[in-house]
Amino acid sequence: MQFRADTLVLFAASAARGGAVLKDASNYIWDVTQWQAGLSHGNPADPTTSWYAFTVSGSGYENSGSASYIPAFGARCTGSGAGFPLSSEYSECAIDAQITEAGSSVSARIVPDADTSQAHIAISHVFSNAGERRNWTATAVTDWARERPPYNFTLIPSEAR
Ligand SMILES: *[C@@H]1O[C@H](CO)[C@@H](O)[C@H](O)[C@H]1NC(C)=O
Ligand SMILES: *[C@@H]1O[C@H](CO)[C@@H](O)[C@H](O)[C@H]1NC(C)=O
Repeated sequence: MQFRADTLVLFAASAARGGAVLKDASNYIWDVTQWQAGLSHGNPADPTTSWYAFTVSGSGYENSGSASYIPAFGARCTGSGAGFPLSSEYSECAIDAQITEAGSSVSARIVPDADTSQAHIAISHVFSNAGERRNWTATAVTDWARERPPYNFTLIPSEAR
């Protein structure tokens, strides 16, 4: 029996997230802009508190009516975390109502991780499609900023089902 390489990647991702079945949509990405994630003391050995601030958006994926439909969204997320490893609960991001479908919500949290040298920040976009609640999530793993100015990157989100 042969596994394709992308199947193995999916298995690895599922295992890392506690066995949930995850599904990616091909060519579906999120844009993260003006990303900042920092330690309040700037000391990675004593990260008692941390903060993040960024903008995240996704274009619409397929057409409304399709089972794979994902509505366009945009939001500005800010928050802070504490503890060791650093963590926070999900907190709501400020929705950009001009590009976001009514009823969608976006939230973010600092995920506690054994890798304490980097920021692990989960972003979740929740909406409903044909009355069914859907939840797409991506986790950004970045350096805690020091002198670095805000920057941009893309994320490949997955659906937890
Ligand atoms: C990041 O994206 C924003 C919005 O698209 C853009 O204005 C800015 O120039 C970008 N910054 C960099 C460093 O590319
Ligand atoms: C969305 O899914 C993620 C990953 O499974 C989960 O941690 C999060 O709590 C969910 N968000 C909502 C609002 O249900």
